[in-house]
Amino acid sequence: MTQPATDSHDQTTYPPPADLASGAVATAELYEEAAADRLAFWGRQASELLTWDVEPTEVLDWSAAPFARWFADGRLNAAANCVDRHVAAGRGDRVAFHWVGEPGDTVTTTYAELHAQVQRAANALTDLGVRTGDRVAIYLPMVPEAVVAMLACARIGAPHSVVFSGFSAQALRDRVDDARAVAVITSDGGYRRGEPAPLKPAVDAALEPRDGVESTVRAVLVVQRTKGEVAWTEGRDHWWHEALEAAAPTHEPVSVEAEHPLFVLYTSGSTGKPKGILHTTGGYLTQAAYTHRNVFDLHPETDVYWCGADIGWVTGHTYIVYGPLLNGTTSVMYEGTPNTPTQDRWWQIVEQHGVTKLYTAPTTIRTFMKWGEELVSGHDLSSLQVLGSVGEPINPEAWTWYRRVIGSDRTPVVDTWWQTETGGIMISALPGVTSLKPGSAQVPLPGISVEVVDDEGRVLPAGHEGAGYLVLTEPWPGMLRGIWGDEERYRDTYWSRFAKEGWYFAGDGARRDADGDVWLLGRVDDVMNVSGHRISTTEVESALVSHPSVAEAAVVGASDPTTGQGIVAFVILRENAPRGADGQDVAKALRDHVAREISPIAKPRQVMVVSELPKTRSGKIMRRLLRDVAEDRQVGDVTTLADSSVMATIQAGLQGSRGSED
Ligand code: WT7
Repeated sequence: MTQPATDSHDQTTYPPPADLASGAVATAELYEEAAADRLAFWGRQASELLTWDVEPTEVLDWSAAPFARWFADGRLNAAANCVDRHVAAGRGDRVAFHWVGEPGDTVTTTYAELHAQVQRAANALTDLGVRTGDRVAIYLPMVPEAVVAMLACARIGAPHSVVFSGFSAQALRDRVDDARAVAVITSDGGYRRGEPAPLKPAVDAALEPRDGVESTVRAVLVVQRTKGEVAWTEGRDHWWHEALEAAAPTHEPVSVEAEHPLFVLYTSGSTGKPKGILHTTGGYLTQAAYTHRNVFDLHPETDVYWCGADIGWVTGHTYIVYGPLLNGTTSVMYEGTPNTPTQDRWWQIVEQHGVTKLYTAPTTIRTFMKWGEELVSGHDLSSLQVLGSVGEPINPEAWTWYRRVIGSDRTPVVDTWWQTETGGIMISALPGVTSLKPGSAQVPLPGISVEVVDDEGRVLPAGHEGAGYLVLTEPWPGMLRGIWGDEERYRDTYWSRFAKEGWYFAGDGARRDADGDVWLLGRVDDVMNVSGHRISTTEVESALVSHPSVAEAAVVGASDPTTGQGIVAFVILRENAPRGADGQDVAKALRDHVAREISPIAKPRQVMVVSELPKTRSGKIMRRLLRDVAEDRQVGDVTTLADSSVMATIQAGLQGSRGSED
């Protein structure tokens, strides 16, 4: 777990600004309506927020729990809901995206233009042999085509599997293989930190035969972004722009059942193998539209909304693509890093486009805090009305800074708790209703049911001193429908812990204060949260032991002032491993190795070379003790160790060998 946020030192609450409250989309009545009849409430949301080809008559079928069916007899198309219906209603000239490239180029796409592009892209995929039900991997940086690609897949009913473009070739192949994807949509490269960075070589490497087995991919579509040299596999590779130009301009969206798979998105679990989280169409879209509209108090005619996530994560899926487009929003989308070319890049963009709603992660806010508020004060940010936070608990200090410096001491800050698995926001204040409490995600949204419980499943009441586990006690429309190809893991991971009660186990620690507000306390499993990215300790350990120099590895998440948690690795080297002068060379080699194997985001902050690891008599590594070392604390109880002198040996060996950070 990360450092618990406490509500003890700052009892200040922030009531909704009067002007916002008086025109707010969500009022307190929403809670009453949902509480009176939860399913009827969701039925109304589905019918009002979406356009159905066949209106559903049934809201929820939970008879095959934990496999839910929402709005099961309804039919619709996700892309038609995101695009076509806005154009049909005469809103084709509204801007869907103000895209800002890192080098300074821009692309403005209206709903009508998006409509044209998505239709051509859908036809291009069909021309390449992609059929309804086939999986398509999308491995793209933050370019406008990423949105078009996702919607084109949705339009033909081919579930997309977006793989974060920072992931390695190896990670891409794992995901392509697991999903049995038939096509990959990628680019020649993208811009990051002022430089073009190639991407296509990773796709080429990923699609090489592995252990003699060909990949399932038959076609690769390549978006041209950096215009660098690319290797080409004739017959397999196709330029995106050529394929779209050759494709027919109109396309009839495929009407699918509400439970038709919309996407698979891989996320880390507590084992080394990533889980393919499956989301379907009708329920997911209902929750995406509902939460985006109410949590951000969205007024589509006037708002300019910006979510700073990457489309490779669920936040990008739900709050860059589906939620905003369903609501007919005008969004900003930015390609690059916040400090390119200068550290005030974000504030230039907010000012220039008059951004009204901003959604980002605590780690980003803390980075801005570090860079200093002078960078912000030179910009007019008076357009901002609501600020959102997601990905990890936001410490009260970062919360108040976000509100004061970015929000001109005026805007609500909503802390939104959810997961890849939940599909959309579950716990959050409503900006026009809730009095805000810095550091707490506060209350479940109308229609959502949560509890904080102890090991035995006893509900911990408001004001209970100790921490418990966060559980979701009723199914919700955006819930995952399973783990791709692994029913048992789905049951095990989420539904076995409180099987008797039938509750979903979120894997987060939590407590409830005297007002009943929920405070999230971090993961309770072997999953780290680094800059809002979920990374499993086992995955990093597997990458480390795949290096020829490493005999054994143990990884822990240690609290970090900027990234929430930082990855600290303890490794035992093989006898013959080259060690370098003071372990620095080997540490660097191993950090680079992890970046190559998984992604730079999984790169350990520190690598500590040790001669032994603390293990219980049954051989389980005691991460708790390693965390004590990594966080420079007094080492805790060692009595359950097989060899109680191990910790002393480790600490003695580490004297002077710290500081293997770049
Ligand atoms: C895990 C889910 C949800 C999109 C981004 C991450 C942590 C997320 C909060 C928050 C405290 C949070 C939890 C959760 N988390 N938001 N507002 N307060 N913790 O999605 O990769 O699926 O990770 O992120 O630990 O279980 P994800």
